[in-house]
Amino acid sequence: MTTTDPRLRPVAIGRALHRRDGLDKVTGRARYAYETEADTVSYACLVQATIALGRVEAVDTTTATDLPGVRMVLTPFDAETLTDTTGELAVLQRPDVAFRGQVVGLAVADTAETATRAADLVRVTYATEPHDVTLSADRTDLYAPEKVNPAFETDTSTGDMAAAMANADVTVEQTYTTAMYHNNPLEPHATTAHWDGERLTLWDSTQGVHPTRSAIAELFGLDPENVRVICPYVGGGFGSKGQPHVHVVLAAMAARANPGRHVRLALTRQQMFALAGYRTPTIQRMRLAADRSGRLSGIAIDVVEQTSKVEEFAEQTGVPTRMMYASPNRVTTHRLAALDVPVPSWMRAPGECPGMFGPEVALDELAEALGMDPVELRIRNEPETDPESGKPFSSRDLVGCLREGAARFGWADRDPRPRVRERDGWLVGTGVASSVYPVNRMPESTATIRVDGDRYVVEIGAADLGTGTWTTLAQIAADALGVGVEDVTMDIGDTRLPNASVAGGSSGMTTWGSAVVSAAEAFREKYGPEPPDGATADGHVEENPAEDRFAMYAFGAQFVEAHVHRDTGEIRVPRLLGVFAAGRIINPRTARSQFVGGMTMGLSMALHEQSVLDPRFGHVVNHDLAEYHIATCADVADIDAVWLDEDDPHVNPVGSKGIGEIGIVGTAAAVANAVYHATGVRVRNLPVTLDKVL
Ligand code: MOS
Repeated sequence: MTTTDPRLRPVAIGRALHRRDGLDKVTGRARYAYETEADTVSYACLVQATIALGRVEAVDTTTATDLPGVRMVLTPFDAETLTDTTGELAVLQRPDVAFRGQVVGLAVADTAETATRAADLVRVTYATEPHDVTLSADRTDLYAPEKVNPAFETDTSTGDMAAAMANADVTVEQTYTTAMYHNNPLEPHATTAHWDGERLTLWDSTQGVHPTRSAIAELFGLDPENVRVICPYVGGGFGSKGQPHVHVVLAAMAARANPGRHVRLALTRQQMFALAGYRTPTIQRMRLAADRSGRLSGIAIDVVEQTSKVEEFAEQTGVPTRMMYASPNRVTTHRLAALDVPVPSWMRAPGECPGMFGPEVALDELAEALGMDPVELRIRNEPETDPESGKPFSSRDLVGCLREGAARFGWADRDPRPRVRERDGWLVGTGVASSVYPVNRMPESTATIRVDGDRYVVEIGAADLGTGTWTTLAQIAADALGVGVEDVTMDIGDTRLPNASVAGGSSGMTTWGSAVVSAAEAFREKYGPEPPDGATADGHVEENPAEDRFAMYAFGAQFVEAHVHRDTGEIRVPRLLGVFAAGRIINPRTARSQFVGGMTMGLSMALHEQSVLDPRFGHVVNHDLAEYHIATCADVADIDAVWLDEDDPHVNPVGSKGIGEIGIVGTAAAVANAVYHATGVRVRNLPVTLDKVL
C-alpha cells in the first residue's frame, strides 16, 4: 500500500460521488433495524393511555393473554424496575399518566398481528384528573428554565432596550408564532432487541449508537461493554432519533422477559406523534428599534414555549437573535409552560429554525416601514464581530449570500409595493430571509484506520441518517491519507467501532471528520508512505482551541417567489433559492440534498405542517400523514441551493461548517415575506394557510 503526502489537498473532497449505500438502499438490500435477520422472533405492540392526566388503577390482561400466540403483557405493575423512575425513559415504572398516548402496557406475541390485537384487548381502568395542555403567553405559571438547549443562558440583556425603543425613528413591535411540528422520517422509529445472558444487543434506528448505548446501559444498570447497538442505515431522523425514546427501552424489556428471542418493536406513524418528541410551539414577541438609515439600535425577542411535566426541554429559540445583527441594545428571554403533554425535543435546527421566523419577518416589516429594500436592510446591519461574544467570526459571508442570491433571483427590479402584481388571477410576490447555523463540535470522537489487504479501513461509530456519512467520511479519509477514495472502506454504525458522538447539531463532519483526519495523521506519522498489512492508528478529537478566539457559524439567504390565488387564497411557491456560505463542501451531491431537503422542510413548515392539539383530550388529532400535511413533490417546484466558496481554516482541518440544518432556517420567514409582498396580508402565525390571506 502506498500513500502520498496529502496535507489535505482536496482530491476526493469536492467530488460529487454517489452515496456508497445508495444502491443497497434503492434495491432493498440495506437492512434497517426492524428487518434484522433473526431465527426466533417476537413482536411487541404498545398500549397507550387514553387519558391526558391521572393514573392507571387497574389493567385487565386476561383476554389479551388468552389469545393464542401471546407471550405476555407488561404493565406498570409488573414491568422490571429501571434505575430512573421519573424521566421520559422511565416507561412502565409508575401507574401515573402524564400525557395522552403515554405507554401504559406492552403486548408481546409471536406475530405482529397478534401483538397488535392483544394490545387492543388490554383493558385499562383510569382515575382521571383535569389536564392542562394549552400554551399561551398570558399564563401566570410561566417560568424561566435554568438553561436553554443545550446549555445556553436563558436570558440575555445588553444595553437599554427600552431607551432604544423610546428614542428610535422607527420601531416594530409584533408577536409571531410558530406551530407545533412533528418529525416524520420515512422510517418510523424501530428497534430489534436480543439478550444473551447479561449482554444486550439492540438494532436500533438511531442518530448515535454510542449515545444510545450510554443511555440504555445506565437505565438498565448495565456495564456499557455489555450493550451493543448496531445501526448501519437510518431512514431519516431529523433529531427525533437523536436520543432513545421509550420504544427502545420497551424492546429491551420485552426481550429480557423473553430469553433467547429477538423482539421487534416499531412505532406506528400515529404512535410517533406521542412518543418521539416534537418541536414546541413558540410565541415570539419581537421588538426592533432603528434609525432612518435602517441601522438597528435595538433588537429583542421574548419567547414563550412549552415543555412537559415529565421532563424539561427548553428550545433555544431566542439564541440566534443574540448574534445575527449589529445592534447595541439586545434582549432575549425564554419562558416555559410545563403542560400535560409529551416531552418536546430536537427537530431540525432546534432554536435557529423557529427562532429566525419572528426576527426575519419583523425585519421585513421594518424594511417596509423604512421604505428600504429588505436585502439592503440586512446588509446595513452586518456586525463586524459577534455582537454577543465580541469575538471575530472565523468567517461570515451573509452579505455574499444576500448579494449572490439577489443577483441570481433577479431581485434588482423588485417593486417593493405589496399586492400590485397579478397574473391570471394569481397575486405574485417575492421575499427574502437570512439563515444561520452554528458550527458545532461534539465533546469527543475516535477513529481508527488500518490496512486490511489492499484496503484502508476507517472505523468510527458514526451514523448515516441518509445524509451521506458513508461516502463523505471516506472522502475525508482518502484526502487525509493521500490515497484514492476507492481504496477506502468505511465502517460505521456499531458500538464495536470507536466511540462517536451523536449525529446532531450538524456536527458530524466537524467532529467525526476531525477524528478521521487525526487518525490519518497518526497513521502517516507511524508508518510513512508504505504502511504494511495490519498497520493501524487511532485519532481522537476533542474541543477546538480556536473556539476561544472565534465565533463560528454558517450563513445563508433564502429567496422565495410566492403566488397566491386572488379568489381562493391558494398559495404556491414556484421558486425557492438558497445561497449558503458554509465552509468547504465535501460532496456537492450529498450537500445539495441536505440544503434542498432542509429548504423543502422549511417550505413545508411555512405552508403545510402543523400539529393540532385538541385541548379537550390532549392529543394531536392530525396524527398521521393523511392529515399532518407535509410538502409533496407537487408542492415543490423550482427549488435550488447554491453555495459560495469559503475557506475557513479555523473550524476544523477540512474547513467544513455543517450543512444538515441550515437549509430549514429562514425559509418559513422568506415564504411569509413573499406572501405579504404578493397579498399585502402580513401573516405572523405559522403556517401560512389560505384562510389567513383571504
Ligand atoms: Mo438535529 S435536530 O441536531 O438531529
